[in-house]
Amino acid sequence: MPTAGTPAPRVVLGVSGGIGAYKAVEVCRRLVEAGVHVAPVLTPDALRFVGKTTFSALGSEPAQSSLFEEASPIPHTKLGQSADLVVVAPATADFLARYAAGMGGELLTATLLATRAPVLVCPAMHTEMWEHPSVQENLDTLRRRGVSVVGPEEGALAAGDVGVGRLADPATIVSVALVMLGGRGDLQGRRVAISAGGTREPIDPVRHLSNRSSGKQGHALATAALRRGAEVVLVTTVGRPVAAQPRLSVVRVDTAAEMEAAMAVESDKADVIVMAAAVADFRPRQVATHKLAKDDGVPEIVLEPTPDILCGLVARRRPGQVIVGFAAETGDAVERGRRKFDRKGVDLMVVNDVSAPGAGFDHDTNVVTILTSGGTREVPLSSKEVVADAVLEQVVGLLAGRDGRAGAPRAEED
Ligand code: CTP
Repeated sequence: MPTAGTPAPRVVLGVSGGIGAYKAVEVCRRLVEAGVHVAPVLTPDALRFVGKTTFSALGSEPAQSSLFEEASPIPHTKLGQSADLVVVAPATADFLARYAAGMGGELLTATLLATRAPVLVCPAMHTEMWEHPSVQENLDTLRRRGVSVVGPEEGALAAGDVGVGRLADPATIVSVALVMLGGRGDLQGRRVAISAGGTREPIDPVRHLSNRSSGKQGHALATAALRRGAEVVLVTTVGRPVAAQPRLSVVRVDTAAEMEAAMAVESDKADVIVMAAAVADFRPRQVATHKLAKDDGVPEIVLEPTPDILCGLVARRRPGQVIVGFAAETGDAVERGRRKFDRKGVDLMVVNDVSAPGAGFDHDTNVVTILTSGGTREVPLSSKEVVADAVLEQVVGLLAGRDGRAGAPRAEED
């Protein structure tokens, strides 16, 4: 996550004493993998569930669990003052009560009193405890003080129970933590509108025309932009829940017409527009009001073109706005993409040969060529997250060029 020359952001990872503590190991590992310096702090009760050695081995410095027995005489102030973020996973009912009450009798709560850094708590407990008014009131108090909360989720709990109370998925916790750290990134203060997924054009109340787009690339772009500090609006057809993140708003749409309306609203405010969605080119001219039945005979569905959303956005472009299009092609991809770049009037075209192995629909990886007016950048088979960052790197360069700042797009010249 840190770029060359910038120090790694520092996260204090607090672990309190609940069964979800075993998942904090994964949170620790993923944060370190993302380039974060992790200082693990375990409460005495956490040690009943997990060992300090594990966190010392996976974290960036030895795990600490005591106010009095560590090398430093005042470990909490040093930890609190140097943190860029404190994450507590899991946060038990007892921990939340002590934190909300401002108690500082053990290292983790003392560190929280001694920090000015943003704090993310990830509650985990049995459903009955989670729903208890005292737990909810403590959380309300913490939220009012600016503490961010992720989870809990619904699912299997300890002792065979099922319900709300399960610790949020480690990947989600890490993603939110990275977004909170991203407040210092190179898209800070920028508003980015991203469309994602395939539109669905209704035929009748139960059927529609659509395409194979999974929306994964658009969603990866949204996460990458959040990590770079942007304010992100994700206009998506994807139905699965998107984890709540600071600076993210999600607009759900189905049809090309709905996507066009949502993007038009955003285009008046956005500094960057990314049309990663696979918009249907045609839709049924008439939508049957009742389900078409076999007895009605084989239907003759007459199609009409949908609006070209991207061309509409380019036509109403605000001064300085950067507009990115995607081109899903099969064969002669770059040549066809360059023609589309010229035709659509975008600043950047991400060309995607969806017939290449490991690329395009449904895959977690992609192979793209990024076209700008002056150059071409190939991104070999990579995760959609890496592709998203390569695209945003070009966007940052274009924005800087328009602001008259250094850092023109880094695509190599043709
Ligand atoms: N796009 C759009 N509205 C449409 C069709 C496409 O905004 N009705 C956008 C897509 O989101 C993408 C870009 O235009 O960013 C190119 O989409 P693509 O499907 O590759 O191109 P088309 O314009 O549909 O041309 P063709 O299907 O003939 O290749």
